[in-house]
Amino acid sequence: MILRLYRRLPAGKFSKSISKSNKTAKEQNPLNILITGSSGQIGTNLALRLLAEGHAVLGIDYRQNTWTDRIPMRMVDLTTDCVGRMLELIKGYEIELIVHLAAYAKVYELVREPSRALQNVDMTFKAAESARLAEIPIIFGSSREVYGDIHRHVTNESCADFVVAESPYSASKIAGEAFIYSFSQCYDLPYIVFRFSNVYGRYDNDLERMERVTPLFIKRISQELPIVIHGKEKVLDFTYIDDCVQGICLGMEKLLKKEVVNQTINLACGQGSSLVDLAHYIGKAVGVEPKITYTPAQPGEVTRYIADITKARELLGYNPQTSLSEGIPKSIAWTREFEQQKGL
Ligand SMILES: NC(=O)c1ccc[n+]([C@@H]2O[C@H](COP(=O)([O-])OP(=O)(O)OC[C@H]3O[C@@H](n4cnc5c(N)ncnc54)[C@H](O)[C@@H]3O)[C@@H](O)[C@H]2O)c1
Repeated sequence: MILRLYRRLPAGKFSKSISKSNKTAKEQNPLNILITGSSGQIGTNLALRLLAEGHAVLGIDYRQNTWTDRIPMRMVDLTTDCVGRMLELIKGYEIELIVHLAAYAKVYELVREPSRALQNVDMTFKAAESARLAEIPIIFGSSREVYGDIHRHVTNESCADFVVAESPYSASKIAGEAFIYSFSQCYDLPYIVFRFSNVYGRYDNDLERMERVTPLFIKRISQELPIVIHGKEKVLDFTYIDDCVQGICLGMEKLLKKEVVNQTINLACGQGSSLVDLAHYIGKAVGVEPKITYTPAQPGEVTRYIADITKARELLGYNPQTSLSEGIPKSIAWTREFEQQKGL
């Protein structure tokens, strides 16, 4: 039995476009996309954008979305549920592409609980195996963590040297990438691997689950509470969420049209900022002078990363629009609006 998300799909996979015109994607050539980790930050933003464009999305996650109930989803635990469950959903909903984002995504948490890193590998294996058996392409959300703590001026995709795995989380992303590459070699699995970096901006304020530096600093500085910067010297590449989602959408379109296949691509802003810069941008936007204490960087942390995004620009036409100084006021505006709506 074919289950319907919204509508019947025209026959013929792998040639569909999600390009925009005056018509919505739904009128043109809508897609059926499965997003793992759809209750997380990037998954939520990506799913809402695709739905707004008229595509059909099936999210899977092992917990409900705490920000929105607009994303059709099924509860699946990728560490305990089997590949058969994924295949059932892929077949049932005529899924054409998997965007695999599910993971335990907090670096330091995995230093404390390394078994979760192994579960990340298991999740990626199951996503890749499902894509292989269903004969559909996959996009894998990897991380700048695969580069380790290298101190290059900017980092291009060929800088990955897996002997320098900095933490169990890095190891889980390296292993995840390795499964994707090996499936491509042995079974012709079409893929794009995106290496993300410090994505911030919307649907990222569930601090009790996932303590991310940007929403944490926004909350604490707004409340005139002190903040701790682990590593005054740290320089990182902060990516505004809309740029990240735009890059993924471009990748989906090119992968499905077979214009960009089997590529590993940095998806970031391409600019470095310190955590001190971050705190000051927030302070300026909320009109509070940040009270900062400094401690050394924590074990397993990357302390310098600026992405070389030439490949994303050339292959995808990716062109990030929002610098950190522009993205922070937008993030604060979103947080205030969200909290107001929820009566927080
Ligand atoms: N956000 C970033 O800055 C960033 C940077 C680099 C890489 N990434 C990677 O991008 C992906 C998405 O990141 P995010 O920020 O949206 O993370 P997130 O933690 O907000 O979302 C991940 C989702 O995966 C789900 N998940 C975890 N274990 C699961 C399981 N066993 N079964 C099903 N679902 C499970 C979680 O519930 C969560 O909703 C992750 O793989 C992350 O490692 C993110």
